[in-house]
Amino acid sequence: MSQPTQSDATTHWTPTHGAPYRPVPYRPERMPAAESLARAAELRERMARRRTVRQFSADPVPEQVVRDAIACAATAPSGAHQQPWTFVLVKDPEVRRRIRAAAEAEERLSYEGRLGEEWLAALRPLGTDEVKPHLTDAPQLIVVFQQRHWLGEDGSRRKHYYVDESVGIAVGMLLSALHLSGLAALVHTPSPMRFLREVLGRPANEKAFAVIPVGYPAPECEVPDLVRKSLDQIVVEI
Ligand SMILES: Cc1cc2nc3c(=O)[nH]c(=O)nc-3n(C[C@H](O)[C@H](O)[C@H](O)COP(=O)(O)O)c2cc1C
Repeated sequence: MSQPTQSDATTHWTPTHGAPYRPVPYRPERMPAAESLARAAELRERMARRRTVRQFSADPVPEQVVRDAIACAATAPSGAHQQPWTFVLVKDPEVRRRIRAAAEAEERLSYEGRLGEEWLAALRPLGTDEVKPHLTDAPQLIVVFQQRHWLGEDGSRRKHYYVDESVGIAVGMLLSALHLSGLAALVHTPSPMRFLREVLGRPANEKAFAVIPVGYPAPECEVPDLVRKSLDQIVVEI
């Protein structure tokens, strides 16, 4: 009987398309309310301290922490459990240099006018520009790809459902896992991102979703002074 959770890297997924429904018991222990409250308050406080970092130290990171964070992301829910994601972990400095050169070429066109005044105005408080040192300074990049459809070894295809939503949720879980494990990250979306599929040799069914540099903040790191919306601005209780 298969297990309802997957904690072991040796478990290997194979396509379940068309397989019959096969339920297994799921009986997690219920957490006492007092413990829930304490954990939620602590988590809220720790998550509030997450910031997007754009100035990285070159210090290496414990590689298993990054792999564990990707494993956390891979527990994300996904449309029809199709898990339409690929995480490419780029450590090779030469490949990171190529990604930086291609990203900066796109970003230069964007900041020189392709974005338009409204988009540039939205970015102004963040202090970003076309120079992207994080792509070569951070010791690792996680390039996340969406699998727009399933591609069999014989070239057959099957539709994937809710790909944007599924990959977005997985990336949220990845960022949380990295932060709670003590690492800093940035979601970088150079637009357009087609070059990433070419540089990283990914197949035609994959579309780049984001480049996520991972590492430690540089000693001189600064972040924009941003205010997050308060709960009463975003929650509607009925
Ligand atoms: C989908 C998405 C795309 C983003 N793209 C970029 C980007 O290309 N470059 C960048 O410097 N920051 C990018 N960011 C980071 C945001 O600017 C940042 O999350 C936001 O300003 C809030 O700051 P915080 O993460 O420190 O709370 C992106 C974030 C998201 C979620």
